Amino acid sequence: MPQLETKQTKTAKQTAVTLINKKKQGEKISAVTAYDYPTARVASEAGIDMILVGDSLGMVLQGYKNTMKVTMDEIVYHTRLVSNANPLSLVVTDMPFGSFHISPGSAVENAIRCVKEGGAEAVKIEGGRRRFKAIEAIIESEIPVLGHLGLTPQSIHQLGGFKTQGKIKAKADEILEDAIELEKRGVFAIVLESIPAELAKTITESISIPTIGIGAGKYCDGQVLVFHDLVGFTNLYLPKFVRKYADIYSTIHDALSNYINDIHSGNFPGDNESYHINPNPEAQEK
Ligand code: KIV
Repeated sequence: MPQLETKQTKTAKQTAVTLINKKKQGEKISAVTAYDYPTARVASEAGIDMILVGDSLGMVLQGYKNTMKVTMDEIVYHTRLVSNANPLSLVVTDMPFGSFHISPGSAVENAIRCVKEGGAEAVKIEGGRRRFKAIEAIIESEIPVLGHLGLTPQSIHQLGGFKTQGKIKAKADEILEDAIELEKRGVFAIVLESIPAELAKTITESISIPTIGIGAGKYCDGQVLVFHDLVGFTNLYLPKFVRKYADIYSTIHDALSNYINDIHSGNFPGDNESYHINPNPEAQEK
């Protein structure tokens, strides 16, 4: 397949440190999920700061109704596909449900797998106070950790579904306290998912590490979206916080319909898409 020339808009490798510096300099952070090599390439070449190998792949790629079944082997495999693209974006692996809940020791072992086998440059851990010990142990082992507060999809059974968090004061205070504590414990940034914009603003102003919002309004230091949602690679329901920047589903649907029609009509392949016998009797097979 021909490799297309694409414009590289960034020249510097992004790291946990460069993202912290962006907040200091008042520069917004762009992040997107990627689960494979071609997506990681285009994300990097478009200038995305951070690629998240999200456990959302359980829903987006594997067709599960939530993220609970994603395994360590699967997340490591997809991280490897992403890191094979050598993106300039920071590569963060989302540690799956069950991989950091049993003990800080096994959390460290699994985080090390993400780095050694997958090529991750940081890991993401969902949850606040109940996860502090695991988070501290992973940071202690020299792996940067991205926190994740608000709607944490790995807690849906306890939360009662995919519900916006922090709408009432007591819960908002808890999320704010967790964010402040996560910074003290050394995470380099925090994803804030599906919380009121006002709460995200308070958190963003209360900590010196970046907040990366998804359904958390405009005051966050950066934004993350699921790649397949933002390019419209689905015709299923999307939450209201998603902005669709393309309609890839329709583009692919049309391309496949045209391909089918061309096969049926005999219009594909054409003469210029076929190989032909060389009429020169002296020609050698190369
Ligand atoms: O799994 C994921 O893709 C995520 C983002 C939506 C933040 O956690």
